[in-house]
This record gives sequence, C-alpha cells and structure tokens, in this order.
Amino acid sequence: MTKGNSTKITDELYRYMLAHNPPLDAVQQRLVETTYEKFPDVAGMQSAQEQGPLLAFLVRLTGARHIVEIGTFTGFSTLSMAQALPAGGRVVACDVSEEWTAYGREAWEAAGVADRIDLRIAPALETLRAMPQEEHIDLAYVDADKESQIAYWEELVPRLRRGGLIVTDNTLFHGRVLDETATGSAAGVRAYNDHVAADPRMESVLLAISDGLTLSRKR
Ligand SMILES: C[S@@+](CC[C@H](N)C(=O)[O-])C[C@H]1O[C@@H](n2cnc3c(N)ncnc32)[C@H](O)[C@@H]1O
Repeated sequence: MTKGNSTKITDELYRYMLAHNPPLDAVQQRLVETTYEKFPDVAGMQSAQEQGPLLAFLVRLTGARHIVEIGTFTGFSTLSMAQALPAGGRVVACDVSEEWTAYGREAWEAAGVADRIDLRIAPALETLRAMPQEEHIDLAYVDADKESQIAYWEELVPRLRRGGLIVTDNTLFHGRVLDETATGSAAGVRAYNDHVAADPRMESVLLAISDGLTLSRKR
C-alpha cells in the first residue's frame, strides 16, 4: 500500500490554510464566537471553520437549489450553505433542539437569509420520511446522531436527483473508526462507511478533511 499524503496539520499550518481560504464574514464569525461562549462544552460539534466555505463552494459547484441538512446545532453550516444558494433556493434544516437552533435563527436573520431556511424541529428521520418520494434533493449535509446515519442515507438516496451530492461529516470520527470493538457513535460511523462504500447507486470518496468528510454523488 502506498502511503498517502502525510502532511501533519499543525496549528501553524491550520492558520496558514485558513488564511488562504475565503474568510468568514462578520455574521459567521460572530456565530462561531457566540457558540463557543454560550456552549463551551459542546461547541466542538460545530462544523470546522474551513467547512463553511467548502460547503458554500459545493452548493455553487452543483448549482444546488434544494438542500437538506441533518444536524443544524447553532446554524453555522446552514448559514454557509444558505448564503451560497441562488434566488429561490431552500435549505430544510433538521434538528431536535430549539435552544441551539435559536442562535442559528438570529444569525440567519442578521445575514438576510432566514427566508431561505425552513427549520424543522423534530427527529430528522420523521422529517425525511415526510418529504416527497421523488428525486428532488440536490445536496444533503449529514451531521447529526451517528447511529442513525444508515437510516438517513436510505431515506436520502432515493430522493436525491442524479448528480446530486450527499456530504457526510465526521467519517473518521476522531480516528475511532479503526476500533473494531467500538460501540455507539463510533460503531455507527464504521457501519455507515462500509454501507456507503458498498452502495452501487452512489460514487463516494472519503477525504481527510477536518474529522473526515465523505462526498457521495448519485450515479
Ligand atoms: C454535530 S451537531 C451539527 C453541527 C452543525 N452542522 C454546525 O455546523 O454547527 C449535531 C446536531 O444534531 C442534532 N441531532 C441529534 N439527533 C438528532 C435527530 N435524531 N434528529 C435531528 N437532529 C438531531 C443535535 O441536536 C445537534 O444540534
């Protein structure tokens, strides 16, 4: 086996990388800071800073108009995707927390994109199953409870249009995907990665971005 890119991302290299990416705008920056101030114990759930511009890039690249997000938290990823949508585009944002998503609502208003975001407070599986069965989703971002990911995948794939994209976060799960005895979330991610890699309907690549990011395109 050849050894892949072994560049270790030191703090200095991480800062360099961010300095060469599109900067966060004032609303995004404030939302990131507010999340760390208000919820220091769980703020690490927020998508990494470089993922905001990446998600926006993918929305523009695919020309996505109908986005589904599973796992909104305080709304950073939602905001990044909504800002990149063309006129008439929509994000259906799924979460179970009124408390966390309230900070998202504030930021979406401040950024002038609240009218593009349809926040559904309910278990995401219920929200997905209530959606039309036909192929209509252009892009989905999966970033919630890891044990349910295969179920999300199975609801999303038939509803995804051809060429549409599923972006899944944390697919290296802090390296714990290597643990064959893993339980809970790590086991959920392990099972999901195997499921995704074996699905002939989709073409997938697992990338070492942040905590692992898998991009899956419908054939
Ligand atoms: C990792 S965070 C999402 C981070 C977000 N994408 C961001 O960039 O800030 C995971 C979120 O999934 C939500 N969640 C957990 N279980 C859920 C479920 N069954 N249905 C919908 N959302 C769920 C949690 O409330 C939490 O806000």
